[in-house]
Amino acid sequence: MMDWTDRHCRYFLRLLSPSAELYTEMVTAAAIHHGDAARLLRFDPSEHPVVVQLGGSEPELMTRAAVRAAEEGYDEININVGCPSDRVQSGQFGACLMAEPERVAACCRAMSAAVDVPVTVKSRIGIDDQDSYEFLCRFVETVADAGCRKFIVHARIALLEGLSPKENRSVPPLDYERVYRLKADYSELDVHINGGFCDVDSVESALEHVDGVMIGREAYQNPYFLAELEERFNPGFVAPERRAIVAKMLPYIEAELANGEALKRMTRHMLGLFAGQPGARAWRRYLSEQAHKSGATADIVAGALNAMQQVAA
Ligand SMILES: Cc1cc2nc3c(=O)[nH]c(=O)nc-3n(C[C@H](O)[C@H](O)[C@H](O)COP(=O)(O)O)c2cc1C
Repeated sequence: MMDWTDRHCRYFLRLLSPSAELYTEMVTAAAIHHGDAARLLRFDPSEHPVVVQLGGSEPELMTRAAVRAAEEGYDEININVGCPSDRVQSGQFGACLMAEPERVAACCRAMSAAVDVPVTVKSRIGIDDQDSYEFLCRFVETVADAGCRKFIVHARIALLEGLSPKENRSVPPLDYERVYRLKADYSELDVHINGGFCDVDSVESALEHVDGVMIGREAYQNPYFLAELEERFNPGFVAPERRAIVAKMLPYIEAELANGEALKRMTRHMLGLFAGQPGARAWRRYLSEQAHKSGATADIVAGALNAMQQVAA
């Protein structure tokens, strides 16, 4: 999730869930081509299985980015066909590409021919007034013909004018049934659903219809949710205590600090770890107020645990 997640976040989430597939935020193919590709694509080996999400619509540029990402070791390459932001639309990619399935197919075909890992697509169920089931099927069929076997579908349309990206994640209603119908009609495809999943039971119900559930905001705001999911779906897995997760993060934080990374860049992803627990606000407040200070060390994390303990006691 752009501006929210990064490699530090994925490292942290992996501690909570050994088997979830983790996705990068969208990285544009142009940024990989013109920018610091090694920095943009960097990840820790513990993050596997990890998927890079690419933004773009030029088959050649997308292919170059895919090759680079595959060289870095990503397990899957996902094309963003769901982002409605103006910036992305002006670049002619993201959700507006749902209206150009042939272009997405061309990207998919070229990328798949150049890399050994799967090339997949994340889309919406429709855009603007193109929100019929038939429209979604046409899109999926065209892209599947180009070799894409896995679709992650955010179960709401995107309105490309008039709504902010944030509103486009809440205002158009969720329509899970349309995604379930897609899976029923194209059972040979791997269909994953996304949008609004915040509890383990809802995920379990969805899995009766589709092959996977992608979690966005809840995984960030209440990361322990991933441990609860892992416990339900991975027999034998015992969710670690939240404090044990903090303890496991500390060596990583120390190592990153030693490499010149700022403490807040790591701790910001940990703010929600104690969501719903006694002292959660004290933990969040202490980290928010202290971790950005210059020279802040990993001791701040211990301080936040203490602050939480005092309130919770
Ligand atoms: C801050 C933020 C950034 C996001 N960035 C991306 C992105 O880079 N790529 C993407 O496919 N979806 C992005 N999304 C959308 C989420 O992946 C997801 O589709 C959406 O939030 C609905 O799922 P949820 O209800 O589980 O959050 C973003 C969402 C948020 C809140």
